[in-house]
Amino acid sequence: MEGMDEEEPPGKTPFFRASNLERALNLKKLFIKFEGAGLTGTQKDRISKLHVLRAKEKGYDTISLATCGNYGASISYFASIYGMKSVVAVPGYYAGERNSEIRRNGAEILEVDRKYEDLVEYMRVRSNDESWYDSSPGSVNSELDIEGYEGIAHEIVAQLGHAPQYVSVPLGNGTTLAGIFSGFEKMQRKGVIRKVPAFIGSSTPNGNPIVASWKRRRKTLMELDPSAIRETKASEPLVAYRSYDGQKALNALYRSNGLATYVSDEEMYRYSSLIEKAEMLSVLPASAASLAAVDKTINRRLENREIVVVLTGRSKIWTTQ
Ligand SMILES: Cc1ncc(COP(=O)(O)O)c(C=O)c1O
Repeated sequence: MEGMDEEEPPGKTPFFRASNLERALNLKKLFIKFEGAGLTGTQKDRISKLHVLRAKEKGYDTISLATCGNYGASISYFASIYGMKSVVAVPGYYAGERNSEIRRNGAEILEVDRKYEDLVEYMRVRSNDESWYDSSPGSVNSELDIEGYEGIAHEIVAQLGHAPQYVSVPLGNGTTLAGIFSGFEKMQRKGVIRKVPAFIGSSTPNGNPIVASWKRRRKTLMELDPSAIRETKASEPLVAYRSYDGQKALNALYRSNGLATYVSDEEMYRYSSLIEKAEMLSVLPASAASLAAVDKTINRRLENREIVVVLTGRSKIWTTQ
């Protein structure tokens, strides 16, 4: 594709001070890192290009995954750009809002009535049998995910000039938060920053093992009862009974002296419409969990603390073809 540099990972998303939200929420220094500006509208673009290029390099002709939609849209997009086939498994009962886009990207969609985690395991076996490159979380290729999301930390430090005191990130599998934490930790080891920010993780009370483990002060990630979790249109990207990078995310919460909190569907909708009104950004309700979590947990008396909320996706998804 013209203008797309194979060497260059997607990224360099907008970063700005959210002065209107500061006033609305009585916060001193609030910044937005807007991952929704990516090519297919979510942070997944950071890792999809890396996986597609790695798959090509290793000689695969097909890349596969299980997804709640956003990652599938991203992988299928980059697969189409770089001439690979893609096979995307989506839980049949999900809203499937991005299925037509995934099909337009030339992917084969497998709609299977199983829970997301069961589909990840199913695709793991199927990819092995069919010699497809498995880009689902928790696969042999998943180290790339952490590398991809480390870029968000590097950009925040470059854009702000130093590390903020807090970074807030929504949690599903925990990969995004774990990757950003890893980026900050590496910069600290190299002496680029003095201190790693405290991480604020947020997810749905409909089911997320990372927040559930943190609330019980567990050091080892627990799994939830699959029959007890409940997906809704708002919570789909975050709901899980098993979080594939959950242990890494949980470690990051403890090591950074951070915290985790639940954000209800109603709060996701309320904070996403506040972001739209205040900052003219249309974001996915699930990604507004990061702002809701800040508003619910931050101590206003801590003057001059810099808080970065990572908004992981835009809501008015426009297609890329
Ligand atoms: C828009 C959006 N935000 C947040 C997440 C959660 O990210 P992670 O699974 O890396 O914790 C997802 C995952 O699909 C997502 O699509």
